[in-house]
Amino acid sequence: MATVIKNGNVVTEQGVIKSDVKIVNGVITALGVDLETSKEDQVIDASGKFVLPGVIDAHTHYNMANQLGVTADDVESGSKSAACGGVTTYIDFASPLEGKSLLESLLDKQANAEGHSYLDYHYHMEITGQHDFSLEDLQQLTRYGISSLKVYTTYADRLPDDQIKKLLAMVKETGQLVIFHAEDDDLIVSFREEFQKQNKTGVEYHAESRPHIAEVKAVQNLLAMAKEIDVPIYIVHVSTGEACQIMKKAQEEGQKVYGETCPHYLLLTADCYKKEQAQRYMMTPPLRTEKDQELLWKGLQEGTLQCLTTDHCSYTVEQKLQFNTCFKALNGIPGSETLLPLTYSEGVAKGRLSIEQLVACLATNPAKLFGLYPQKGVIGVGSDGDITILDPEKEVILTGEKLHSAAGYTPFEGIKVKGYPVATILRGNIIYQDGEFLAEKPQGRFVKARVK
Ligand code: URP
Ligand code: ZN
Repeated sequence: MATVIKNGNVVTEQGVIKSDVKIVNGVITALGVDLETSKEDQVIDASGKFVLPGVIDAHTHYNMANQLGVTADDVESGSKSAACGGVTTYIDFASPLEGKSLLESLLDKQANAEGHSYLDYHYHMEITGQHDFSLEDLQQLTRYGISSLKVYTTYADRLPDDQIKKLLAMVKETGQLVIFHAEDDDLIVSFREEFQKQNKTGVEYHAESRPHIAEVKAVQNLLAMAKEIDVPIYIVHVSTGEACQIMKKAQEEGQKVYGETCPHYLLLTADCYKKEQAQRYMMTPPLRTEKDQELLWKGLQEGTLQCLTTDHCSYTVEQKLQFNTCFKALNGIPGSETLLPLTYSEGVAKGRLSIEQLVACLATNPAKLFGLYPQKGVIGVGSDGDITILDPEKEVILTGEKLHSAAGYTPFEGIKVKGYPVATILRGNIIYQDGEFLAEKPQGRFVKARVK
C-alpha cells in the first residue's frame, strides 16, 4: 500500500511545483502529475494546499530535569504536540551522566525515548564543564552518528573558554558542529549581583538583568575563538539584532557561522514581563524589543540565520508560578506545535519570507547542518516520506486549551494565525489530520546523522 498526496503545491528544493507525491514503505518513490494509484492506496487530496517536507524542530527539551523541576512535556506528550503542529523530526539534547562516557550517556537518553516518541528524533550531545571529554569520546559519537555538540556559555554547566578552544580544535578533526547557547556568564553574574543589591529581583526585571550585551559579548568571543581555530560554529536561539549583525559581518569576512532564532524572539517583546503571570514568558535569553524583531526577520530574509527552532522547554503555569523572582525561575516555554503556524502566518502570509525560505529554515537547513539530509528535510525521491500539508487559508486563534502540550498554556495565547497544518505524515503514516491525532502508538525512530 502506498500513500499518495495528490494535486498539492509541493515545495521542493527547486521551487514550488504542482505535483503528486508517492510514498512506499516509508520512502518517497515518485513525484509527478497524475501519478497512478490503486484502490489499496491511502490517497490524500491536497488541492489548494502546500505540501512541505516535514518540519524539523532542531531545538527541543522534552523530559528535561534541572534542580527546580522536570518539564511538563515528556517525549510522548512533547512529540504528540509537535506532530499536531506539522513537526516530523525533533532534535533534543543528551546530557553527560556521572560515571558514563559521552556515548553511554547518549545511549541512555536514547533508550529512555525508545518506544515513546511519535516522531523521529536525533540528539545534540552536550559538552559541559563538569564532564571531561577526549578526542576519542567525540570520535565514538561521530561513529554512532552524532554530528553536533552543544555548549552553554552560562549556567552551572557552562564550558570555560580554554575548554571551548580544546573542543573546537578537536571538532576540526572530527567534523562535528559545535552549537552554542551564547550569554556571557561574567556579565550575567555581575548584573545579577547589582540587581540583587538594588532589590530588583521581580520577574519584571528578567530582560534587564540578562541584557543584550551579554549575548553580544558571548557571540563576539565565540567568533574570535572559532576564527583563531578556523572551524564553523552555530549559535542557538539568537535573540538580539546586534548579535545577528555581528554574525552577518563575520560571514561577509568569510567566517562560517550559522544560527537559529525562535518564534518568541520574532513575535513577543520584553513588555510581556510587565504582564500578570509574567513567568509564562520567561526563558533565556529573554524576550527583547521590536527593533530586535525587525533585525531578526532581516537575518532570516538575508540568510544570516539559517534555522527556525523553538527551544521547546515546557512547564505548566502552576510550575512556573512557584517562583516569583527572575533569579530563581523555571525558564523555558512550549513552542513546537506553534512553530509552523506562527512562522507561516507571520513570515509567509505577511510577505516577510517566501514559502521556499520558510521551508529552508524549518526543514532543509537544519537537516543539512545536522547531518540528516537528504533522508530528512526535503521532498525528493529516496528521502523519508515525512510530509506536512498546510492549508494557507485556515485561520486559527491560538489557545493553550486546544494545543496538545502538557504545559496547558501557550505564550502566544490569542494570536490569530492564517495558515495551519492539516496533516502530518511520518514515513508514509498519517499521524495527524484535520485536528485529529491519529497515531495509535509511538513509532518514532532515532535517526543517525552523517558527519562531514
Ligand atoms: O529558558 C530556556 N531556554 N530553557 C531551556 C534551556 C536553554 O537555555 O536552552
Ligand atoms: Zn534550549
